[in-house]
Amino acid sequence: MDVVRIIGGRPLGGEITVSGAKNACLPMLAAALLTEETCTLRNVPDLRDTHFMVEILRHQGAHVENIEKGVWRITARDISPRTPYELVRKMRASICLLGPLAGRLRRAEIAQPGGCVIGQRPIDLHLKGLSRLGCTVSHQNGYVVIDASDARGASVFMGGRHGSTVTGTANLIMAAVLFPGVTRIDSAACEPEIADLCRLLKTMGAQIDGVGSPALIITGVERLGGFDYTVLPDRIEAGTYLIAAALTGGDVTVRGAQTECLGAFLDKLDEAGIAVEDVNGGDAIRVRPAKQPLRPVDLITLPHPGFATDLQAQFSALLALIPGISLVTERIYPNRFMHVPELQRMGADIAIEGATAIIKGVKSLSGAPVMSSDLRASAALILAGLAAQGETWVQRIYHLDRGYEQFDKRLASLGACIERMDAAAMPKDFSDEQTDAAA
Ligand code: EPU
Repeated sequence: MDVVRIIGGRPLGGEITVSGAKNACLPMLAAALLTEETCTLRNVPDLRDTHFMVEILRHQGAHVENIEKGVWRITARDISPRTPYELVRKMRASICLLGPLAGRLRRAEIAQPGGCVIGQRPIDLHLKGLSRLGCTVSHQNGYVVIDASDARGASVFMGGRHGSTVTGTANLIMAAVLFPGVTRIDSAACEPEIADLCRLLKTMGAQIDGVGSPALIITGVERLGGFDYTVLPDRIEAGTYLIAAALTGGDVTVRGAQTECLGAFLDKLDEAGIAVEDVNGGDAIRVRPAKQPLRPVDLITLPHPGFATDLQAQFSALLALIPGISLVTERIYPNRFMHVPELQRMGADIAIEGATAIIKGVKSLSGAPVMSSDLRASAALILAGLAAQGETWVQRIYHLDRGYEQFDKRLASLGACIERMDAAAMPKDFSDEQTDAAA
């Protein structure tokens, strides 16, 4: 197992270009199952999650080739409706096969995903939406079985306790594009990745109005053609590098960071006093060292266009070093604070009250051996390590490889002192076993 070792205290500098968006790519790869024709997806990041999705498509019977870096070609002639638990348990996002299989085959049998470390993650809204469209939903031996033989367009409301659902909206859209009649989805997720998925589906011949809004109108078509599409840049990866720059007092330009996708996040950076500017009319964003003292902020994660939950852990690492009291409230995953005890080990002063983290900024963090629990928590701990005094060892970084392409190497290219190595190279008293034993 690999670990990452960081020696903190170096301001980052230079330019970086973000990869294609993981959370757009996963449903887009699944969308290739909607047609027998060949589909080409470009700007696909080289991540564990995209490789899992390719493995799943192959399992379903699709022919998938990596024709050059970041470009995948998929042809799904004869496909199976069944996705087993061995695959679903590796990646929750495999649930986004539900819509394409129901649309194309009128049947889907997918192992029900469990909860995960960031929360319960139910799929009731996905199933409610498909039922409204006339699908019969049943649960059989751990599988969700969708029979869509009588499916047809209808009106569906997709809002839930925590707002809309991103993959639930993707599923419903991908099913409805091939169901007869007109479907209206209200309270559809408005995340840029959903809008990009709709644009891809339109190139296949789907009829979708209201793209990017919470009210989508889909007129079903009999068949869809292939696509050749380039995935939009990853706004969460972009935000993570911007925070890395801010945390280290660096000067970094992030190419592919789109202001229109990062509004609430940029607003909070501005409120904190971080100097951020648009470069080349919105094609990149630059963070420079702040000239004034930084200020604490009060932020709440919300569905897009609100502050993204996927940037909460990283932003909390930044707030841990800003004098004063910041409040961070999670409205999407009320328990998504697994990074907090690890930041505390580095000297952060954070208390959790319900779904709110109360962060009292400290003067400095101190490097420590820490354990990552999920993708965004891993990134947050590495960012904290970049700003901390001394040496930080981040363990279980396989989480990181699910969603960041070569994070350590790319930070090193910006001047960070960071390297990945085998866990055996860690000082003995820092080791994984030691931390587990203490748990
Ligand atoms: N929810 C329900 N019922 C449902 C579905 C969701 O109550 O049927 C609740 C969830 O429990 C959560 C909220 O609604 O409280 C939002 O969940 P959503 O379904 O939108 O999340 P998701 O589609 O499973 C995607 C991203 C996540 C990201 C969330 C929120 C993908 C593959 N994953 O998950 O990304 O946090 O949207 O923006 O698109 C990550 O990249 O680190 C990550 C976790």
